[in-house]
Amino acid sequence: MNNPTHFRKLITLFVFCYFLQNCCIAQSADASLPQLGKDPIGKIIAAMTLEEKAKLLVGAGRGFGPPPAPRTPGKADSPSRPPAPAGPMIGNTEQKVPGAAGNTYAIPRLGIPSIVVSDGPAGVRISPIRKGDSSKTYYATAFPVGTLLASSWDVDLVKKVGEAFGYEVHEYGVDILLGPGMNIHRNPLGGRNFEYYSEDPLVTGRMAAAMVGGIQSNGVGTSIKHFVANNQETHRNSVNTIVSERAMREIYLRGFEIAVKESQPWTVMTSYNKLNGTYTSERTDLLSTILRKEWGFKGFVMTDWGGGKDPVAQMNAGNDLIMPGNPAQAQAIIDAVNNKSLDEKVLDANVAHVLNIIVQSPSFKKYKYSDAPDLKKDAAISRMAAAEGMVLLKNTGNVLPLNGIKMAALFGNTAYDIIAGGTGSGDVNKAYTISLAKGLQNAGLQVNEALLNAYPAYIANAKSKRPKPRNFFERQPPVPEMDLAGMNVDQQAADADIAIITLGRNAGEGADRKLDSDYYLTPAEKSMIKKVSDAFHAKGKKLVVVLNIGGVIEVASWRDEADAILLAWQPGLEAGNAITDVLSGKVDASGKLATTFPMDYKDVPSAKNFPGKEFLDQATGEGFRRQVPAEVTYEDGIYVGYRYYNTFKVDPAYEFGYGLSYTTFKYSDFKMGSPVFKGMMGAMVTVTNTGTVAGKEVVQLYLSAPAAKLDKPAIELKGFAKTRLLQPGESQTLIFEIDPGDLASYDPQQEAWVAESGSYTVSIGASSKDIRQTGKFTLAKDLVVEKDEKALTPQVSIGELKR
Ligand code: BGC
Repeated sequence: MNNPTHFRKLITLFVFCYFLQNCCIAQSADASLPQLGKDPIGKIIAAMTLEEKAKLLVGAGRGFGPPPAPRTPGKADSPSRPPAPAGPMIGNTEQKVPGAAGNTYAIPRLGIPSIVVSDGPAGVRISPIRKGDSSKTYYATAFPVGTLLASSWDVDLVKKVGEAFGYEVHEYGVDILLGPGMNIHRNPLGGRNFEYYSEDPLVTGRMAAAMVGGIQSNGVGTSIKHFVANNQETHRNSVNTIVSERAMREIYLRGFEIAVKESQPWTVMTSYNKLNGTYTSERTDLLSTILRKEWGFKGFVMTDWGGGKDPVAQMNAGNDLIMPGNPAQAQAIIDAVNNKSLDEKVLDANVAHVLNIIVQSPSFKKYKYSDAPDLKKDAAISRMAAAEGMVLLKNTGNVLPLNGIKMAALFGNTAYDIIAGGTGSGDVNKAYTISLAKGLQNAGLQVNEALLNAYPAYIANAKSKRPKPRNFFERQPPVPEMDLAGMNVDQQAADADIAIITLGRNAGEGADRKLDSDYYLTPAEKSMIKKVSDAFHAKGKKLVVVLNIGGVIEVASWRDEADAILLAWQPGLEAGNAITDVLSGKVDASGKLATTFPMDYKDVPSAKNFPGKEFLDQATGEGFRRQVPAEVTYEDGIYVGYRYYNTFKVDPAYEFGYGLSYTTFKYSDFKMGSPVFKGMMGAMVTVTNTGTVAGKEVVQLYLSAPAAKLDKPAIELKGFAKTRLLQPGESQTLIFEIDPGDLASYDPQQEAWVAESGSYTVSIGASSKDIRQTGKFTLAKDLVVEKDEKALTPQVSIGELKR
């Protein structure tokens, strides 16, 4: 066994036998047996053994490579032996789509194929290179991150991105894309905020619905995640999130509800955390009552990878599929049926949910995927979408767009080493990333050569000294900003026409962000801004700051030193080209914030309880398996984001809905259907481009409801629309509809959505603070809009924030 050639031969033989066996199984499909797709699902289920049912409901294990070499009885595994597989090997993703996140168990005798699922929200996450296949690469397009897409406020655009994205999913042989991610930005430090859309549930829900619709139009599925109240990464597998029923219904569930009702995602992924004491994947009220019964969800529910504890509770709750799956979980289900602690009918229902989706999948339809999507076409879509979601935060004296600028001095590491997207499962294996330096050069601008030479060398050197990450979740520390002492900044200011500083931030799965040197700037960044600002301003030249970030950072303390600030987010693989499109004015800056930039972290309503308490003395397990019990109480209740800032009159640095354009817009002719609400209310407003260049405007409709019985936020977003590209002088009339649900708040006492009688104010704004038109209507009598079942009740009282 020590002879490697012998060992390789044995593996080859074993793999061969394995394929042979599978072929035989496939060919042995007995014509007298019911077949998926030909016979009713009920008949298929009736023909399944208990073991088959259990295995179908437990994933086939993550890509663990070929089957292991046989063990020698009585001998320990040799170190060169491949690891024992964590699950049954049939249909392992490595056989079909290397690098995919998982797959289901195949039952060839009944015509049930294995289906493949893959991350993640910003592009198909698969291995770019395959073993034994050096002739080809399998890169995917990195689209802009979710937060950028939401900042476009353009659902048609997001749908278009989804269409391109789903096309790659399909062409790479994947059946279900594990996204979009759609948790609420509860706190700026959330490590995965970049994957998510917004602090507001309406924006979140509509963006997710558009993305799901776009992806699924290709005949592949999605998995909206992480359901639900998974708003932090700290202790994500063990944290107990304590939230009121009202905050759950109005803030944390609402986006999922919109996405389910508007777009019927094929699947929903439950989150890792507990919710009010029970893992989300084990909550019947969440998965069966709310998701299926109240919202009409038709697909299947899967766990997050390794989420939850008790497979039987998961089955009972309606968490149909356990991912990535291991044999012990299937065995626990079989045992529970055999000892009568689990009704086999529960399995039958779950199997039906899974089969109803499998039968629609490309794998079932034997789609001949090309493994060669047209990535050039998708890169163009990624670039276009990226530019649409960038937010111009500041533009004193119309520094931007860059007019008459020949040479720019580029400071900041990420101008040369740009961040396309975040880390973890949300990362994409892309073929390239265009830096800002390259993007500007592509557009014909000169980039100061001294800096162009110094930065890449400095970055490469610093990176070579960093410790290698020990595991998937460990992030390498960012390269600190270069000390500019040796760079003669005065000379750069003399040589270049303008300075552009890029500040970068990265984060991702497994950890939340820190305040020091992440939310707040590092000392080196502050000194860079000061030095460059002083040197360029002394010569009458301007400073533009580009923010290449995935989540909110502190801006108030340094923004005065910059003439313009462009929030470019993490814009995908065409980053530098897309940023240049906006800096140059080729594309109007038309994005607006879907998440607030506060003056300071202490102003954040969840600052006091994020990421909550940890109970270190109760920790269990070692290394990777270490779990620390933790809990976080959402005392901020419904007051998340602008709902808090506007109600409690706390001024943010840049408010929700804010963003400048290269042109200006006038709002006029605001009309409402009637002064009295009669089941539906129409509102319209005309937007005119009053500036000198073409542009698009995002218009927001907020509602203020009477608060006689229930506490209400000062305003809540109830509608939004983006104009088409308006030429100077051109107008467009936008129409909004307000339905009874928009008037209602969730009353936990009545377990119902209730609209209170009284006077409602409609505010049409260019942001949550820049209200341009208002109108009023009245509701004559209290209205119970929807009665729900009691669900998700907290087990402790929550000292919730009240007005
Ligand atoms: C992440 C999910 C992801 C899954 C599969 C988990 O760790 O939380 O978002 O889809 O892994 O890779």
